[in-house]
Amino acid sequence: MKVERCLKKLKEILELYRLFRSPGGKIISFPSGKGGVGKTLISLHVGAALALQSFSVAVVDLNLALPNLHSYARELPEMTVTHFLTGVCRVKDVKSVSVKVRDVTMHVYPSRSIVDLAKKPDLSKLPAFLTNVKSLYDYVILDLPPGMTRYSTYPASLSDCIVVVTADERASYLDATKLAKALELSGVKITGFVVNKYEGRRSVNLDKVVGVIPFDERIRKFPEVWSKKYFRPKFLKNISELAYSISRIC
Ligand SMILES: Nc1ncnc2c1ncn2[C@@H]1O[C@H](COP(=O)(O)OP(=O)(O)O)[C@@H](O)[C@H]1O
Ligand SMILES: [Mg+2]
Repeated sequence: MKVERCLKKLKEILELYRLFRSPGGKIISFPSGKGGVGKTLISLHVGAALALQSFSVAVVDLNLALPNLHSYARELPEMTVTHFLTGVCRVKDVKSVSVKVRDVTMHVYPSRSIVDLAKKPDLSKLPAFLTNVKSLYDYVILDLPPGMTRYSTYPASLSDCIVVVTADERASYLDATKLAKALELSGVKITGFVVNKYEGRRSVNLDKVVGVIPFDERIRKFPEVWSKKYFRPKFLKNISELAYSISRIC
């Protein structure tokens, strides 16, 4: 039993080593303390903006219990990242959905909820998945669950670039700051913060602000990445600037 545990640990370390040494794109994650701050919106739209800058991009739904990306991509492949993490399929069976952004394409990896699969995911398999997916794209963006559980902090720790998302709200700033501090205390370096739903009522009192996205009622009305209308609203200017800053830093 002890030998088996040691072998599993060794395999995990080797997978981590492979992930960090393997060539390929950069992994970006947008964790947050609070939910509903705009992580999914930002993950998808920074992905779309990077695709428009001619990068090849994948956005992966790692909100394993409450995934959302299938509702944006309007398709759920038969085998998803949760199937792989719960041991149902092999890494190469996991499929993406192509999403058109104007005249370019980005790839979305929606996830089936672990609630539907009624299985517990094995996060130690995540490096193997990411090694594979990052070999295919310039940027791999991870859409994470909120909070400070292993389901968000572990994928964040495997990322090259971590941008903590906060809404323009006192409790959200407090939680984002705490999350960033916790990650840094565990040795994970934060790239910076993005302030979403900014209403301009207070000045942003955070270190390393990578982007500020105003609150915009139209965002609720145009959630579809592939809609031609989508890139017209003004808020995308801020998202494009954020994507540009990220492409320079990461
Ligand atoms: N800048 C914004 N202005 C207005 N509404 C926004 C903005 N960003 C996100 N939203 C809305 O807030 C809600 C939560 O966003 P979502 O991306 O699902 O958050 P999270 O993934 O952090 O839970 C969605 O209805 C989304 O359309
Ligand atoms: Mg989300």
